[in-house]
Amino acid sequence: MKTLGIESTAHTFGVGVVDERGRILFDERVVLRPPEGMGILPREAADLFSREGWKPLLKAVNMGVDGVAFSIGPGLGPSLRTGAVAARYIASSLNVPLIGVNHSLSHIEIGKLLTGAEDPVVVYTSGANTQIIAHEGGKYRIFGETLDMGIGNMLDTFARRLGLSMPGPPKLLELAQHAKQYIPLPYTVKGSDLTFSGLLTAAERALEKYPKEDVAFSLLETAFAMVVEVAERALAHTEKDEVLLVGGVAASPRFQEMMKTMAEERGAKVHIVPQKYAVDNGVMIAWTGYLYLSHGYKTPINTPINPYFRIDQAETPWLDAGGGI
Ligand code: FE2
Repeated sequence: MKTLGIESTAHTFGVGVVDERGRILFDERVVLRPPEGMGILPREAADLFSREGWKPLLKAVNMGVDGVAFSIGPGLGPSLRTGAVAARYIASSLNVPLIGVNHSLSHIEIGKLLTGAEDPVVVYTSGANTQIIAHEGGKYRIFGETLDMGIGNMLDTFARRLGLSMPGPPKLLELAQHAKQYIPLPYTVKGSDLTFSGLLTAAERALEKYPKEDVAFSLLETAFAMVVEVAERALAHTEKDEVLLVGGVAASPRFQEMMKTMAEERGAKVHIVPQKYAVDNGVMIAWTGYLYLSHGYKTPINTPINPYFRIDQAETPWLDAGGGI
């Protein structure tokens, strides 16, 4: 069985095809690259997807597919709609089942497929998202999350302030290597949740007094330490023994190192999704779509996108004991 997956929640229009064993048969992406110092403009992403997305789609459809999955949310409305329209059109034309997939959940399932993690505490850090998630009581639950912006967007915003291009974290890490001192910045963990906007403002102000290298270093250390602390609490609470890092920020070596130090002290193993699949892609949607379709799940053709779809609202029939809800 070949499942087609379409990812289109933000700046990437990803098209993937997987088979029932999780083998990746096709993987192409159209990515909006904003000019230096600029963020994503949702309308521009949607325009690009409409202009270019059909090329990888046509190749994938020509392979012959038995089901079509698309990211139904969360994400930017204009981007989501582009993928949804394409998915509905292809599923109707080929008369194959359609399935809408929660984007966050697909980051986790592709991470588990590619790393062998079985039942991890998931640390999902990307541009728009920062969540600590674990499967408990029949669904993925959020144990802690950002209350304002995602850690990736925060770091990108700071990098833009320095005139650096996106993605911000690797450029900031480079700068941080030349730091001479740690500058105290607000450490904003509230209960099990995080906030980044106050930290960002404080870092921007610190630039008036301190070298950018020192500020970049301090900002990264503080933000990463906050996420690691919340992950540690989730590990303690759930008594799981694996941590899985997914999302674009998972590629940061310093973040990985800090997470490993914490996990080792608790006897837990850290799994890191390969960088190519840590960022948005169609393969993760295809694989998660397959998991649903193989359990008889389908999405009616006229189901609207859901830009605010939370992972704890998504069903996970393949993880439920006894095989179904
Ligand atoms: Fe994502």
